[in-house]
Amino acid sequence: MWVDRHVVVGVSGGIACYKTCTLVRRLVEAGARVDVVLTEGAAEFVRPLTFEALSGRPVLTSLWTRGTALDHLRLAQQADLVVVAPATAHLIARLAQGMGDDLLTTLLLARSGPVLLAPAMNDAMYANPATRANLAFLAGRGFSQVGPEIGPLAEGPSERPGRMSEPETILAHAARLLRGRGPLSGLRVGVTAGPTREAIDPVRLVTNRSSGKMGYALAEAAWQRGAEVLLISGPVGLAVPCGVTLRHVDTTADLLQAVREARPELDLLIMAAAPADYRPAESSPVKRPRQGGALQLSLEATPDILLETASLRKPGSLTVGFALETGAAVARGRAKLERKGLDLIVVNDAMEPGAGFEVDTNRVILLDRKGGEVELPLASKRAIADGILDVIEAALGH
Ligand code: CTP
Repeated sequence: MWVDRHVVVGVSGGIACYKTCTLVRRLVEAGARVDVVLTEGAAEFVRPLTFEALSGRPVLTSLWTRGTALDHLRLAQQADLVVVAPATAHLIARLAQGMGDDLLTTLLLARSGPVLLAPAMNDAMYANPATRANLAFLAGRGFSQVGPEIGPLAEGPSERPGRMSEPETILAHAARLLRGRGPLSGLRVGVTAGPTREAIDPVRLVTNRSSGKMGYALAEAAWQRGAEVLLISGPVGLAVPCGVTLRHVDTTADLLQAVREARPELDLLIMAAAPADYRPAESSPVKRPRQGGALQLSLEATPDILLETASLRKPGSLTVGFALETGAAVARGRAKLERKGLDLIVVNDAMEPGAGFEVDTNRVILLDRKGGEVELPLASKRAIADGILDVIEAALGH
């Protein structure tokens, strides 16, 4: 999505400038054309030459350089996105006042397209009512903001608010902003992911091989398309995607409860979780001793979450299920689509190499209620997530 996009990175004078070098590098690696604009203060922290080497383009520092007279207006109009990182308390104050006393503020004054601010400052400056008022005012005027976060500041190791967001986080927010308003923008999306597990005793479990990767990729991709995302996840060791609200669950009963609470609010539910279908009829409160011979376990069925919560569905919402099959995948998937009252089902075959659980790739077929069938060939789970969301967005548009 960054290829040939034009991004202006404005840098004001704070110690977080060193992280902006990585941000510029990541943008260039992703294919963006990056123009860096430094305030006088920023150039005291990181020399323009560093940004010139990283962006491969001349760096702008002053309104008064000969031959660049209208550059601030050209950049304000032409850039797809302006990111200000770090945005210091002083830069934020000047911006809120509509001042144009250097190249970066005149550029921002002339800008009508999207701007993302990544504030960074000392915690007392951030807490100052003037800074708070300025940030609130700018938010009201349509400036987007990422951070600041709580963490160690330059003055010492104690955790305080004011730290600039990491380059990867700024990049994720920038991608969401650049993508603009699509059909998923502003919708409430619930994604379930991973396995559930049922205790045989305090140390042994009944569970399955689900890694959660497909669900996490869907949550990440939906947030980047502008959705408000709730990720309800079973036990997996994956990093929480940027911007996504996480709720942890353990058993199928926990997952049922979480979906029950969320479903009335959801515009879209994607059930990518693989709940344990059976649980021990009796879970021992203490570890079962090893004994000679066979162990007989009696298992009982867990509730079907889609069916149990169907009546809570928000009118006009979409429900998407998954079906992991081991043969006759399309026929079995179509039967499941009907039986579970789904709008769309994502079918994959666990027997195919590169598809299903525990791998980073997938190959799926999407089936809808009108008999439609879309095949997404083998690709990374993130690319498959985008393919699934393209089909969902098309369905939302009708
Ligand atoms: N699902 C659910 N509740 C369960 C089990 C599964 O809501 N207790 C959801 C899954 O998240 C998935 C869909 O139902 O979106 C199909 O899951 P799958 O395991 O393929 O179907 P089952 O109903 O378990 O059918 P079977 O095991 O017979 O294939």
